Amino acid sequence: MINAIRGMNDILPDEAAKWRFVEDTTRRIFSLYGFSELRPPLMERTELFLRGIGDDTDVVEKQMYTFTDKSGDSVSLRPEATACVLRAVIEHGLLNKDPIVKLYSIGPMFRYERPQKGRYRQFHQINAERLGEDGPLADAETLAMAYDLASSLLGREALLMEVNSLGCKACRPAFKEALQQFLASRQDSLCEDCRRRMHTNPLRVLDCKVPTCKEAVEGAPFIEDHLCDDCRAHYGTVLAGLSTLGVRYEKNPRLVRGLDYYTRTTFEITAAGLGSQNAIVGGGRYDDLLSTLDGPPVGGIGFAFGMERMIMLMGEPRELIEGCFVVAQAEPRVEQEALGVISELRSAGIRAEAAFGKSFKAQMRRADKAGYPICVIMGENEINSSTLSVKVMSGHVPQRTIGRKAVLDEIKSMLVHKGENA
Ligand code: HAM
Repeated sequence: MINAIRGMNDILPDEAAKWRFVEDTTRRIFSLYGFSELRPPLMERTELFLRGIGDDTDVVEKQMYTFTDKSGDSVSLRPEATACVLRAVIEHGLLNKDPIVKLYSIGPMFRYERPQKGRYRQFHQINAERLGEDGPLADAETLAMAYDLASSLLGREALLMEVNSLGCKACRPAFKEALQQFLASRQDSLCEDCRRRMHTNPLRVLDCKVPTCKEAVEGAPFIEDHLCDDCRAHYGTVLAGLSTLGVRYEKNPRLVRGLDYYTRTTFEITAAGLGSQNAIVGGGRYDDLLSTLDGPPVGGIGFAFGMERMIMLMGEPRELIEGCFVVAQAEPRVEQEALGVISELRSAGIRAEAAFGKSFKAQMRRADKAGYPICVIMGENEINSSTLSVKVMSGHVPQRTIGRKAVLDEIKSMLVHKGENA
């Protein structure tokens, strides 16, 4: 028997509805922020990632699926989307057509990592990039967009957003030097990789997961103490913007992220319940990446969600079906009336179904199994009094009787309300 490759998973039919739900929610929220979709290919020239991500990162050093194709070119399956999106923006001159570009992409990424819970070799990201705005409020809005999506899928309580600033070309060199000096005094406790990286890329050492390295960097200098005036002001305005937007965050002066292109704002959202692979989204600003890839000298900011991790935490989404099931007493007069109600609901954009001719119990069972949050119940009594009964399927809200004319508005507001609480 031939099995799937280790770390690469099938998404089976009973899981696919959740994936679609996450994708639909993403499209709805991101379009509120003015983002459009870009679908780059899964494979790129290897050089794009070497230059874009940095050859001193774990992703490039150890995790890329790289091979030589039949024409002798080195190509790689994409380990992340940012470099690909920027390559497409530059290649198609999108910033010439519009100086502000906001794009999202959803799809599989590939990293040769040791598989474990929440870490796979093929995994999926929801990626967003916002190019052409240097100001701090673009950062605040982008972080808020990530927070909106995470909280609408998982609820705010489960989330922790951590924010840091990594400074810029002007102030980072002094910090690197201070860090190098500190690391030199601790080098005996560092792993082999970090002993090398402390010379080539000392910030990476702060991100090392080896326990002895984690311990060794505990007293390291903080980048916040080395930020130049511009970076400090930028960071302050980002944090104020987050508060204005109602985003709950914590500053984490040790957050450096695993990729090399970040400048200034960086962030991660972690969620309880995932074990060690608890980051569901990570991202930040990159002011030099477009020019590194031979594009215009324009900055950007973005992030990526790990979809598997989100879906693992989500449970059954309560608003999978935004609609109601019409339960009708098995009487010809009632069923005719129910047919009219169903048609009205659908005309108003509300999904509606019934199961005519079945017992009351069987209809309710069907509504519950299909995941309808609301049932409209119709019998002789309702018809005689020009009313309908409405039952919320979850919780203990008592069934209500509503005037026939008010029912559409009532159901619409109940569905919106459920969505907000989901
Ligand atoms: P990243 O932190 O490497 O950032 O990945 C983002 C998210 O992808 C992680 O927080 C995690 O949820 C998920 N992820 C990463 N590796 C795996 C894996 N092996 N298995 C499952 N999930 C995984 C980036 O990729 C940047 N390109 C984000 C970005 C966009 N920055 C600016 N724009």
